[in-house]
Amino acid sequence: MTLTPLDGWIYHGVKGFEGHLLEEIGQCAAHWGDLYHGRAADTPVFWNRNIWLAPFTLRFGSISEAAGALRVIQRNWRLTPTAHFRRAALIEARLPRVSTKPRLFPWIMGTAPMGGWTLVDPHTIIGSARCTSPFPGGAVTFAEDKTGPPSRAYLKLWEALTLCRAWPRARDACLDAGASPGGWTWALSRLGALVTAVDRAPLADRIRAMPGVTYLKHDAFTLKPQDIGPIRWLFCDAACYPRRLFRWIEAWLESGLCANFVCAIKMQGAPDTETARAFAAIPRSAVVHLSHNKHELTWMKTDPSESAGDSGSPPVPVKDRGA
Ligand SMILES: C[S@@+](CC[C@H](N)C(=O)[O-])C[C@H]1O[C@@H](n2cnc3c(N)ncnc32)[C@H](O)[C@@H]1O
Repeated sequence: MTLTPLDGWIYHGVKGFEGHLLEEIGQCAAHWGDLYHGRAADTPVFWNRNIWLAPFTLRFGSISEAAGALRVIQRNWRLTPTAHFRRAALIEARLPRVSTKPRLFPWIMGTAPMGGWTLVDPHTIIGSARCTSPFPGGAVTFAEDKTGPPSRAYLKLWEALTLCRAWPRARDACLDAGASPGGWTWALSRLGALVTAVDRAPLADRIRAMPGVTYLKHDAFTLKPQDIGPIRWLFCDAACYPRRLFRWIEAWLESGLCANFVCAIKMQGAPDTETARAFAAIPRSAVVHLSHNKHELTWMKTDPSESAGDSGSPPVPVKDRGA
């Protein structure tokens, strides 16, 4: 059995956005299914569900030898099946179980590292113990509420807050910009937060009637931070050009009136990489493609004092700032 480090990183692509990833990483040395082997990136790479930061090749003889070698490295491994599916499943069956069951929110994730692996030929595994995403295979599912929220958009908010290891507490003042029909506001009100929901479109009546919810019919981006005053969290899921959102967030950061942010950066046509990079350059923040994101990225910034776990840092997929 031999374990050999591989140069570069392995990027796990997002279905439908593989082209965006290939544009970001340029030359791709090889790929197995939606795993792309490329150079370690000097600038943030956004359009991936996970990045394998320390890839290796493991040459092995038997199935038990392969599983044993992975177990010696660490406990948690998630298979990304790309070929030799039956043999890969037999190896997986000999590894400790990693739960992928739907989670109840709020959920404080464990902090043990989550590795990734795939079987590229009957006697060769490509894997990495260190990955940017703490979720198995870069994805998480939540136990959905099919009756309460008026849209499924709350799932991306839950995912972002889980990654931040922080969420609003009872009576925390929150601004929800682009709130209609009210999925995010529903999730925030359920946490006991006081939510100012801003949108030019109406909130669903039952969301508007929830405890702690105030609706403001307005263009969110013409509201200055001083119009709102100090808040604990700013959320934005408004459909707008990324530059417009960035200028508005700059004003909030300059004002010092808010420390915690979760904003969807919605791409209109071609991805606005320049603005995504400008967001990612904001200290102590990250831009990621959540497993519940569509043609959008999510920018998250939280004050370390909010953290509900051991580490408040969201994944930062950039060489030299790596996990
Ligand atoms: C994807 S929806 C938001 C969904 C919402 N987060 C939920 O959970 O139900 C985008 C919203 O952005 C709103 N929007 C777009 N531009 C806006 C602006 N300048 N100010 C306020 N809301 C805006 C739209 O009216 C729309 O309701």
